[in-house]
Amino acid sequence: MKLAMEHLSKQFKNKIAVKQIDTVLTEGVYGFLGANGAGKTTLLQMICGIIEPTSGEVKVNGENNLQMGERFRDLLGYLPQEFGYTPGFTAQDFMLYIASIKGLQPKYAKRRTRELLKLVNLEKEADRKIRTFSGGMKRRLGIAQALLNDPKILILDEPTAGLDPKERAYFRNIISEMSKDKIIIISTHIVSDIEYISDQVLVMKKGSFILQGTPEELLDKVKGEVWSCHIPNKDWTRFEAQFCIANSHALANYVDARIVSLEAPIEGAINVEPTLEDLYLKYFSDEMEVGDRN
Ligand SMILES: Nc1ncnc2c1ncn2[C@@H]1O[C@H](COP(=O)(O)OP(=O)(O)OP(=O)(O)O)[C@@H](O)[C@H]1O
Ligand SMILES: [Mg+2]
Repeated sequence: MKLAMEHLSKQFKNKIAVKQIDTVLTEGVYGFLGANGAGKTTLLQMICGIIEPTSGEVKVNGENNLQMGERFRDLLGYLPQEFGYTPGFTAQDFMLYIASIKGLQPKYAKRRTRELLKLVNLEKEADRKIRTFSGGMKRRLGIAQALLNDPKILILDEPTAGLDPKERAYFRNIISEMSKDKIIIISTHIVSDIEYISDQVLVMKKGSFILQGTPEELLDKVKGEVWSCHIPNKDWTRFEAQFCIANSHALANYVDARIVSLEAPIEGAINVEPTLEDLYLKYFSDEMEVGDRN
């Protein structure tokens, strides 16, 4: 299957949210990585056919997604960033309700609901009202409903928001297992959620993809630019202002720091293996507030 974005743009009044995106995706896991406001949700909504592009189009095997209508919706599973649950429903009622909207046969819907609640580890909570769920449980239910129709194109907008580390690890395993015959797109600004499961990472900034490649290819772009070093306490403020700091740990006489920089920031700095988080910092440090390193 081929999912193509062709000269895809979206403008809201005078704000260009998505700018001339051109890319073709085939089966695999794609991580769309970008800071708040980069345009991820807008792009995903255009792929899903929820909003119309200002220009350009989305095509599935050469056919426009909006013109495909029902046939496109049969291929699609979607978890919106802000998902409206019906708090008075139980998890099971909710799944059956979405299944009926998707046009699944009631018998099949029941079986599929059981399977999926099990998959996302909510089988024991099937009869609990959603209003009593934690944020992570709701997110898992959201992932389950997106899978009801066994979609060939699965789009998850910030699927891991609100999940704890154990749930995040579990989520990564679920996605890896089902990626063989699907195009899976995951948007996030949390690098570690896509670093290990994405076949391709697409880094989005101000409405465009500024980088695209396998995690290894992207890591190559920061190779040799990540340093481990000791900065004397008296110099720390200056270093902090001047450099892109990936990590720091203040000790008695110095700060043990991880710094992303073309050149060694200080004598004795040691080159270390980069992570995608270092890459993210390199490309987004201009947009970040101190203390907001996710
Ligand atoms: N309906 C709208 N009307 C006007 N501007 C919008 C609308 N939707 C999005 N925008 C703007 O478009 C830009 C991209 O927003 P979008 O929600 O797509 O970003 P995002 O990458 O999903 O961000 P986040 O990580 O916070 O979810 C932002 O500047 C946003 O304010
Ligand atoms: Mg968003």
